[in-house]
Amino acid sequence: MTPARSQVDSNPRAHRSDEDFDRHAEHYDEALAGVLQPFGEDPSHFDACKVGALERWMLGKGAMTPTRILDFGCGVGRLSVLLAQRFSSARVVGVDVSKTSLEVAAARGGNLANLSFSEQVPESVQFDLIIAANVLHHIRPQERRGVLVSLQDCLAPSGQVAIFEHNPWNPLTRFVVSRCGFDEGVELLSLRALTAMARMGGYEVVQRRYLVFFPRVLRFLRRRVEPALSRFPLGAQYMCGMRVNRKTA
Ligand SMILES: C[S@@+](CC[C@H](N)C(=O)[O-])C[C@H]1O[C@@H](n2cnc3c(N)ncnc32)[C@H](O)[C@@H]1O
Repeated sequence: MTPARSQVDSNPRAHRSDEDFDRHAEHYDEALAGVLQPFGEDPSHFDACKVGALERWMLGKGAMTPTRILDFGCGVGRLSVLLAQRFSSARVVGVDVSKTSLEVAAARGGNLANLSFSEQVPESVQFDLIIAANVLHHIRPQERRGVLVSLQDCLAPSGQVAIFEHNPWNPLTRFVVSRCGFDEGVELLSLRALTAMARMGGYEVVQRRYLVFFPRVLRFLRRRVEPALSRFPLGAQYMCGMRVNRKTA
């Protein structure tokens, strides 16, 4: 039984509804806090690290300021809200197959004018930044590349995609995932595997970094030392940034 996996349609603008995360939506925040609590860790630190990595990428060389952001598989909207706050001139759309998660997300982000949630990717919008945070490991391995490729249909010509995932090479990450109710039955994917999948799917991988290295007791090292460790494959999470490879498209 693989209850955490979704039934996906490879067209992200036309997903079927999915009940997997409906069961977890009301208690998603508590469940996450519960598995991290023994390590003295707070889930919001992971969200902040992801947004920090995106900001570094966006503000880096050849950077762009995103104006239309899709948070694909937004869940209960934890990251969507932060994105709407940090990229306040952008329109942020959170999309998920779980209706109940979207209801929780809408309640969380209801006061932000630049944020909306939907079951389907809006037809008319081409996004210049698409984020999928900890979504791919909830999609069956054989369907992942199709979903990744299909995101290109929603991407503006110069748009970029940022995939965040749990790093299976980090033993603590594997331990936490093994104890997390909504991760039951999932198969994690490494940055190396994702990079190969993205290239096969017609992307050029332009950013690879590991995130979240130090536990809370060593938090004084986080700001200065973590960015320098981003190539070291032991961070708890990773980000893979990509854009359509125009040479092969
Ligand atoms: C672990 S949660 C992550 C939620 C959010 N991205 C975050 O970082 O807090 C994974 C989410 O992916 C969603 N999901 C799984 N397959 C999906 C698909 N094919 N299309 C859209 N959402 C999907 C699930 O419903 C769930 O809400």
